[in-house]
Amino acid sequence: MTHAVEIRDLHKYFGDNEVLKGIDFTVEPGQVVCVIGPSGSGKSTLLRCVNLLETPTKGKVFVNGRELTHPDADIDATRRQVGMVFQQFNLFPHLTALQNVMIAQQRVLNRSKAEAEIVARENLDKVGVADKCHEYPGKLSGGQQQRVAIARALAMNPALMLFDEPTSALDPELVGDVLAVMRKLAEEGMTMLVVTHEMGFAREVADRVVFMDGGVIVEDGTPAQVVGDPQQERTRSFLRRVLHPEG
Ligand SMILES: Nc1ncnc2c1ncn2[C@@H]1O[C@H](COP(=O)(O)OP(=O)(O)OP(=O)(O)O)[C@@H](O)[C@H]1O
Ligand SMILES: [Mg+2]
Repeated sequence: MTHAVEIRDLHKYFGDNEVLKGIDFTVEPGQVVCVIGPSGSGKSTLLRCVNLLETPTKGKVFVNGRELTHPDADIDATRRQVGMVFQQFNLFPHLTALQNVMIAQQRVLNRSKAEAEIVARENLDKVGVADKCHEYPGKLSGGQQQRVAIARALAMNPALMLFDEPTSALDPELVGDVLAVMRKLAEEGMTMLVVTHEMGFAREVADRVVFMDGGVIVEDGTPAQVVGDPQQERTRSFLRRVLHPEG
C-alpha cells in the first residue's frame, strides 16, 4: 500500500542552525497522526516541509507515493493534494467567507464560479458556518474564521490535511467547535497530520502520536503508549508541563 506521507532522513537547516536532524516517519491513508513537542522543536518546519512551504535541505518527502523532493517533481500538482490549516487562519480580509472558499478553486483548479460556489457552500455547511457565508472575516469569531479556513482547504479535495496548532489562537470556549469539526473529518477517513497541544484530542482521535524535541522524533506510537505510558524522560517532562501547566 502506498503511504499517504513518507519522510526519509529529513534534515532542514536555517543557515547553520539544524532544525530537523533526520526525521523518519510515515502516515498511512486514513490515519490521524498528532505531532507534539516543545516550542522550537521543529513541528511547524516539519509540516511545512510536507507541502514544500520550506525546502528540505536533505532527505526525501513522498505524498501518496510521489516524491516532492525529486528535482523533476510537479510540486504544484502535489501541493494541490495537501490542505493546510494555520494557527492564524490566513483568510483574505477583503473577501467574504464564501469568496474565501471559492477563490483557490477558481484560480488553481479552474472551476467555474458556479461550481466553486456549490462546493464552497457544501463545505461551509459541513463545518457549521453556512449562515456566515456573506460575512467578512473581521465579523467572525476566531472559531468561525478557523472553520472557514478548514472549509477552504477541504474545497480543494485534498488527499491529506495538515493542521498547525489550529486551536491555539482561539479563546478557550471556541476550541471545542474546531476540534469537533476535525474529529468529524477524522471519522470520515481524512488523512490528517496535526500539530497540537490538545492532549484530549490526541488521546481520543489520533491513531499515532509523535513526540518531537530538538529536531528529532523522540517517541512515536499509539496515544496510549506515547501519552499514557511515555518511555523517555523528555516526553514525560513535556507532558507534565502540558497537562499540569500550573504545577
Ligand atoms: N524561516 C525561518 N528562518 C530561520 N529560522 C527558523 C525559520 N523558521 C523556523 N526557524 C527556527 O527553527 C526552529 C524550529 O521552529 P519551528 O517553528 O519549526 O518550531 P515549532 O516546534 O513549530 O515551535 P512552536 O511550538 O513555537 O510553534 C526554531 O529555532 C526557529 O527559530
Ligand atoms: Mg510551530
